[in-house]
Amino acid sequence: MFENLKAQPADKILALMQAFKDDPRETKIDLGVGVYKDATGLTPVMRAIKAAEHQLWEEQDTKVYTGLTGDPAFARAMVDLVLDDAVPHDTIAAAATPGGTGAVRQAFELIRMARPDARVFVSDPTWPNHLTILKYLGIEMVPYRYFDDETRGVDFDGMIADLKTAHQGDVVLLHGCCHNPTGANLNATQWDEVIKVLQDTGATPMIDIAYQGFGDGLQEDAAATRKVAASVPECLIAASCSKNFGIYRERTGLLMAIAADAGAHKLNQDTLAFLNRQNFSFPPDHGARLVTMILGNDALRSDWMAELEDVRTSMLGLRKQLAGELQRLSGSDRFGFLAQHRGMFSRLGTTPDKVEALREEHGIYMVGDSRMNIAGLNTQTVPILAKAIIDVGV
Ligand code: LMR
Repeated sequence: MFENLKAQPADKILALMQAFKDDPRETKIDLGVGVYKDATGLTPVMRAIKAAEHQLWEEQDTKVYTGLTGDPAFARAMVDLVLDDAVPHDTIAAAATPGGTGAVRQAFELIRMARPDARVFVSDPTWPNHLTILKYLGIEMVPYRYFDDETRGVDFDGMIADLKTAHQGDVVLLHGCCHNPTGANLNATQWDEVIKVLQDTGATPMIDIAYQGFGDGLQEDAAATRKVAASVPECLIAASCSKNFGIYRERTGLLMAIAADAGAHKLNQDTLAFLNRQNFSFPPDHGARLVTMILGNDALRSDWMAELEDVRTSMLGLRKQLAGELQRLSGSDRFGFLAQHRGMFSRLGTTPDKVEALREEHGIYMVGDSRMNIAGLNTQTVPILAKAIIDVGV
């Protein structure tokens, strides 16, 4: 039977990761996959995670199954972190999932069960895995304009015009903060306008929030998600702990389905449990338990928040340094957007041949659409990148 299999296209981000590993040049710079790295190039285990792991090792006396939707304490802690009290908690069904990707996948499956004819509106561009999962599940997608190639900001008029074509039964996929892959984000007034369009069209928002704490701060980055959730009757939220807790390989995420009223809660919760059972049964627990411990313990929580804030401000510092270097070298402000963008990524907004030239001639690896992982830089490599960007003629 296996002879019937067809080769699947390689995931571009993961293929780039491999190409970087295979490059023997010592001066190479990895701005590819979205993983935080400190100034020494290490992706550290966060202090609070280490402490919680230590405590867990001492205290945990069983590894028996949790529930199909994970430990409810994890869901409660994450609902508090993402939503605070923006919506009544008895309207929120929630399921732990293998990472944020698992939450996205389960959300799409839920949508397909609820509305087989639903279209999912996706920003152009969006995280490529959104598109491949939608395609794999046979869900129709409709791109909406998002990135303005000229300003490297949001093409807001285009976005609103496209979202207005959605209707009830459609889903609008939004990035809660730190848009991946562009780094260009909506401001508060623009979010209000998006909410108005959601209300007018009756389309259901689905928010992917994978970088809370990487943009303007832990609370600030959740503000849009909270406002959207509080303003519409139904909402899906896929949250990831991979980046803000640095627990990438532990696969820790949560899918939230917010219903119009508490009455719909049980059906949603049971459906999420059913979907988990069909796809992987019980979700991974280790990362979720660490997150629960950290969020529930004042000392661990403040240490985690302090370290996360260091991560965030270090990326902001690198952004400013890069924009400054480029201003100096180019004698213009045309790279000022790099300091305006937020989160781990910025889309440089250049052509694939220049991205290739950066890789071939300078050993600088970024995704083909010119997405750079800012956290792949340090204060020494910023000038090298800036010079290379000017050399290849961006
Ligand atoms: C990324 O966008 O690089 C990350 O979210 C990692 C991934 O799985 O693609």
